[in-house]
Amino acid sequence: MNVAKHENVLQDESSLQLDANGNLRHLLTLKGLDRQLLTDILDDAETYLTHPGSLPARSQALAGRTVANLFFEPSTRTRASFDLAGKRLGADVLNLDVNTSSRKKGESILDMIYTLEAMQVDAMVVRDASAGVPAFIARHVKDHVSILNAGESDVSHPTQGLLDVLTIRQHKPRFPGLAVAIVGDIRHSRVAMSTSQALMTLGVTDLRLISPPVLAPDDDAIPGARIVDNLQEGLADADVVMALRIQRERIGNLDGVPGIDEYFANYGISHASINVAKPDVIVMHPGPMNRGIEIEGTLADGPNSVITQQVTNGVAVRMAVLDRVTRTMAGR
Ligand code: CP
Repeated sequence: MNVAKHENVLQDESSLQLDANGNLRHLLTLKGLDRQLLTDILDDAETYLTHPGSLPARSQALAGRTVANLFFEPSTRTRASFDLAGKRLGADVLNLDVNTSSRKKGESILDMIYTLEAMQVDAMVVRDASAGVPAFIARHVKDHVSILNAGESDVSHPTQGLLDVLTIRQHKPRFPGLAVAIVGDIRHSRVAMSTSQALMTLGVTDLRLISPPVLAPDDDAIPGARIVDNLQEGLADADVVMALRIQRERIGNLDGVPGIDEYFANYGISHASINVAKPDVIVMHPGPMNRGIEIEGTLADGPNSVITQQVTNGVAVRMAVLDRVTRTMAGR
């Protein structure tokens, strides 16, 4: 990702997503959101978590509202959790099948958005392979409509960043002093970007971004993070390790990307490779996961893994965000 190219877009997004009182009206990026707001969202999300085996939390906070899920790229976790989050808050939820939508017949994305607005949709959850699409839509919707970024090219995945830092906070409550290692295809990962931005805002000072050189981010992608190409060096004494998948759909013809066996041998997160991390290290993965490539299957299922907890937290975070933007719109 070319950060300089995105810088103006990101600054614009930061101002676009808050109203004049500093309340969240769209969620486009975590960049520019302050520590207090991130903490408030995490605190709200905690209120939507219930004990395993008990019924999920519900409210009628969004009763009468309509949420539309517009996923122009594949998704399991994000789409399902926004769907559940809207329903558990009492909203009507429209999951538009983009493969059978009129966008396939040449309808522009804005005509599609205006059509949904005319049906009184209040919030649109957007995933798209092109950078800038959520902010572009946010600039064109009516004042009472919120846009939530559900994954934007290699730029941003803000609700994923929030659920990741919520999961870390549940195990390691003090962010300053934590050593966090993110391992994999950092260059093409919107998760790496959003989670890193949230971690830095919350006070992490030891963030290692570990990858083969060909998949490393630009030097200034995450100011303050250390870019490392040696796995053992990057994992030493880590409190948190997050493995990322290689984003083959975004790589194109990039020379030097290691094959599967070479990648796992040099960058795979395994029982053997995390031996140098702290004994109570937590192991994370945003999914979808490729067992035996970026992570050893038994480690993903083992006692250090918090991967399913990330998924559970994803629903709670999306409930908190939907409730928050709706409250901003309603002036509550
Ligand atoms: N982590 C994540 O975005 O997963 P999905 O692609 O399944 O939504």
